Amino acid sequence: MKLKLAVLPGDGIGPEIMEQGVAVMRAVCEKFGHDLACEYAICGADAIDKVGDPFPEATFKTCMEADAVLFASVGDPKFDNDPTAKVRPEQGLLAMRKKLGLFANIRPVETFDCLVHKSPLKTELVKGADFICIRELTGGMYFGEKYQDDEKAYDTNFYTRHEIERILRVGYDYARKRHHHLTVVDKANVLASSRLWRKVAQEIAPQYPDVTTDYMYVDNAAMRMIQEPRFFDVIVTENTFGDILTDEGSCITGSMGLLPSASTGEHTPVFEPIHGSWPQAKGLNIANPLAQILSCAMLFEYFDLKEEGKLIREAVRASLDANVRTPEIQVDGGAKYGTKEVGAWIVDYIKKR
Ligand code: IPM
Ligand code: MN
Repeated sequence: MKLKLAVLPGDGIGPEIMEQGVAVMRAVCEKFGHDLACEYAICGADAIDKVGDPFPEATFKTCMEADAVLFASVGDPKFDNDPTAKVRPEQGLLAMRKKLGLFANIRPVETFDCLVHKSPLKTELVKGADFICIRELTGGMYFGEKYQDDEKAYDTNFYTRHEIERILRVGYDYARKRHHHLTVVDKANVLASSRLWRKVAQEIAPQYPDVTTDYMYVDNAAMRMIQEPRFFDVIVTENTFGDILTDEGSCITGSMGLLPSASTGEHTPVFEPIHGSWPQAKGLNIANPLAQILSCAMLFEYFDLKEEGKLIREAVRASLDANVRTPEIQVDGGAKYGTKEVGAWIVDYIKKR
């Protein structure tokens, strides 16, 4: 197929991991005879420095004209501790999500047997854990009405039935493709918005008799995730709860540097690692490129190019098994591989298959 890709490297380690992601895209497209065109665009702190806007109109246009967006990360410490900053890199990410209508954020939490010893949890608890968190991405407190003065401030957790229903249906579709178990996470004992979530969920659940639906309060879900991560198959939840639970989910697997994500909705889908821009590691060639590379696998799978996705996943597993690993997951005494070396090894593996 012809694949037009918008490439948004962003800030911090973004450009380094993106280089490896694009190399993998090229290698896979060459192997399977796809015609790949990459259009680079700026975002985040990089774009603030260059044009004063973290998601400029030109970048939006590039994204709209593409079949898919490959995104790395945004964020820069010079904005973090400045509460007076008028624009922030993260606003670029939020603008992208909103303008592309990306209401469904798919975050798979998958463990690799050879890495479970890196998890802060006991191996017997995490081994085999494999679930997907579906996070609503364009509603809730992130986008609801806000107010702030020196004495008071609020964020509104606004949701409509339409927004709730469409994300629940995404959750059910995934549950049907997996183990037929959906956990709807809310705080319906306290929040009105959550009570609407639960009401809508209870109304549509009977349309999916082949899926077991449970309802769980978010505090309880946070606990269950570390007590018994294997309990979960598909989780569906609102924007803020999903943000928090997916960081928790990612760390139980042993490394945040391994988890990809897909954001889909009305316009061009975006594929990105769930980790941030890790500014301290910028330029050091130590960032793990695997989450970016696995995001490429999700990209191919989105277009139903299953073999392409499978080959990337196989290459990633092989690199881990061969101990070709970045420092944070390297075994004691093992050889040291940087971002570039891990990427090159994977590209080489793909070419040779
Ligand atoms: C994420 C990030 C973003 C979010 C930040 C960078 C705005 O933490 O993708 O999870 O809160 O959604
Ligand atoms: Mn987050």
